[in-house]
Amino acid sequence: MKLIAVTGAGAGLGRHIAQRALEQGYEVAGFSRSKPGKDPGFPLTVGDVTDHAAVAAFFASLRKKGASCQKESGKEGLWGIVNAAGIASMNLLPATPPATMADVLKVNLLGVMHCCAEGAKLLLRDSGRKGGRVVNFSSIAAPLALAGESVYAASKAGVETFTRCLARELAPFNITANVVAPGPIATGILRGLSQEQIDAVVQRQVVRRMAEPEDVWNLVRFLLDERSSMISGEIIHLGGV
Ligand SMILES: NC(=O)c1ccc[n+]([C@@H]2O[C@H](COP(=O)([O-])OP(=O)(O)OC[C@H]3O[C@@H](n4cnc5c(N)ncnc54)[C@H](OP(=O)(O)O)[C@@H]3O)[C@@H](O)[C@H]2O)c1
Repeated sequence: MKLIAVTGAGAGLGRHIAQRALEQGYEVAGFSRSKPGKDPGFPLTVGDVTDHAAVAAFFASLRKKGASCQKESGKEGLWGIVNAAGIASMNLLPATPPATMADVLKVNLLGVMHCCAEGAKLLLRDSGRKGGRVVNFSSIAAPLALAGESVYAASKAGVETFTRCLARELAPFNITANVVAPGPIATGILRGLSQEQIDAVVQRQVVRRMAEPEDVWNLVRFLLDERSSMISGEIIHLGGV
């Protein structure tokens, strides 16, 4: 059984991905800033991706798990990291407080770097057999250069370039790294946007409807698949830009 680490697994897309991965026969370890009220049905470590020590401790706990797993039949150690933890700030730049700018960059960019760095160490250790998978999250806000999302879009553009570089670093070990970049999906992250603003973004997509969490899982599932070993360093825009 392959182990998938999912950040942001407490809510929204991360939670949906973790639950669907579990249903599809993966072992799942979630990491998120707060615990959801209801038991998500998979182990969830509470921690902040901006806290490097917390991220390192999370992956160290999976390492220990991996070692004991090897004795249990059917468990294979860490196969994939899905970095879904993220925050948004929807505001014109002059109205964005500097602390918000720093938070968005820290969570969306530095947080992904922490998780990829610590997660990659474990993937490299466990990848001897068939490789591994990294899936990061961007947004169509980056290629569409949306007004009111400059800080958020810049953080996601950073994730895209970061992931393309990481893909090259990990390719010799048969580990792929890709980016899923959706348009608006009804989760908590959209709370600062009006329906009119959401509709205006959706109208700029090739597919003019809001995606569902299941559309995201369909893409993540494909990228996690062992047969997707030729796909790396790619940014896939859900809905099309
Ligand atoms: N939904 C969309 O429209 C959309 C579109 C394009 C891209 N995306 C991207 O998709 C990813 C998932 O978004 P979502 O829609 O699932 O958002 P969401 O519903 O707000 O969920 C985000 C999750 O990440 C967690 N999180 C936030 N900051 C964290 C931190 N510092 N450390 C650990 N966990 C943290 C949140 O925990 P708390 O609940 O405790 O805050 C929450 O569980 C994000 O990267 C987002 O930018 C989303």
